[in-house]
Amino acid sequence: MRILLVGGGGREHALAWKLRQSHHCDALYAAPGNAGIAQLAECVPIAASAVADLVQFARQNAIDLVVVGPESPLIAGLADALHEAGVPCFGPTRAAAQLEGSKAFAKQLLADVGAPTAPFAVFDDADQARAYLRKQFTQHPCVVKADGEALGKGVFVCDTLGDALDAVEFLMEQGGLGAAGKRVVIEDRLHGREMSLLCLTDGERALPMPPVRDYKRAFDGDRGPNTGGMGCYTPLPDATPALVETALRQIVRPVIREMAQRGTPYRGVLYAGLMVHDAQPYTLEFNCRFGDPETQVLMPLLQSDLLELAHGVATGARNATALAFESRAAVCVVLASGGYPGAYRTGLPIEGLDAAAKLPDTLIFHAGTRAENGQILTSGGRVLNIVGLGDTLDEARHNAYRAAEHIHFDGMHYRRDIGESVL
Ligand code: AMP
Ligand code: GLY
Repeated sequence: MRILLVGGGGREHALAWKLRQSHHCDALYAAPGNAGIAQLAECVPIAASAVADLVQFARQNAIDLVVVGPESPLIAGLADALHEAGVPCFGPTRAAAQLEGSKAFAKQLLADVGAPTAPFAVFDDADQARAYLRKQFTQHPCVVKADGEALGKGVFVCDTLGDALDAVEFLMEQGGLGAAGKRVVIEDRLHGREMSLLCLTDGERALPMPPVRDYKRAFDGDRGPNTGGMGCYTPLPDATPALVETALRQIVRPVIREMAQRGTPYRGVLYAGLMVHDAQPYTLEFNCRFGDPETQVLMPLLQSDLLELAHGVATGARNATALAFESRAAVCVVLASGGYPGAYRTGLPIEGLDAAAKLPDTLIFHAGTRAENGQILTSGGRVLNIVGLGDTLDEARHNAYRAAEHIHFDGMHYRRDIGESVL
């Protein structure tokens, strides 16, 4: 099969690495890819958001399957456009991707099926939002969320009423996130431990992957600003099979059933962001795609053939009944540019990649990198994902950090506590 992978981050490098291992993979293209992906695939200079260009490329190059990494093209209707062009696509349609594209849609659907999630209200009017906050804050701190697609910048977890009122002003009156923030969801703040539960679904059945915990804050001890993710690990000692089954029964399966009943079946990866409190999972959000960096720890442990699975879901062949994962541990540490998630420099040479890649039980997935004259340079905020594998979390963490120590670029920073203080 001839495959086109859409995206160019660490998640897509991990997907490319896994897709390449399939004996069904005859050719692999990536749009736009990165310097790491270029070692496995032919990178083509088409942006992940350029829907029409991607469809044209797929038709002209007899692509048998498109695998989509990021949410934006899915929310914009890439899967629909590919289906129309007769090209199988792994990733939900525009209507199904609303689960990520609109927080109000997702919350209302959760309420409709009675799935556990924080109490909430939706507002198009700033004065009404403020009145609600003033009332709610006498009982509960609140979280203010932009309804639309905001690339991870649309959620304000507020400690005080003042912070929440500021968030409403920023989103609804100043237009701080453009159209995405004109409507807001306000929900009660939940406490507990977060976990990412990714499921492969053909629109009817949900096949769960091992839960993953990611670290969103920039610095050790969960301090500093939010980022796109500074690392993650799996397995989670607190994610018992009973807890996963509860999440599937109360959240994932009812949502998938409801999407099918509405005539907008959800096919692809459904990522449920959960908060667990007293062994009860609550839904924080859905993503309509693989997680980043969750995918970087899941792909190395996945034993099943990803290409076969993705093709089966994209074409409606229902062959898979379970996903096989190695029962080992994986820890991913993100090496970031100095200054990230704020302003940072790019174009800095990266040293030590070859030495790190030779270490046992270590994988290096590139995120923001590019190649120039045979040298790998930084080209983004999150630069590299170092994955350590092991029979235990301690061993996996040791392997990840040992490899990270081999790598250097000017200003590089990373968290030292990924996978630590695990219960
Ligand atoms: P979301 O994109 O909706 O998952 O929000 C991003 C992050 O904000 C989550 O991963 C949580 O850390 C936090 N968050 C979102 N909703 C809540 C909530 N209701 N209570 C506490 N934290 C939340
Ligand atoms: N790891 C968070 C995300 O992929 O959205």
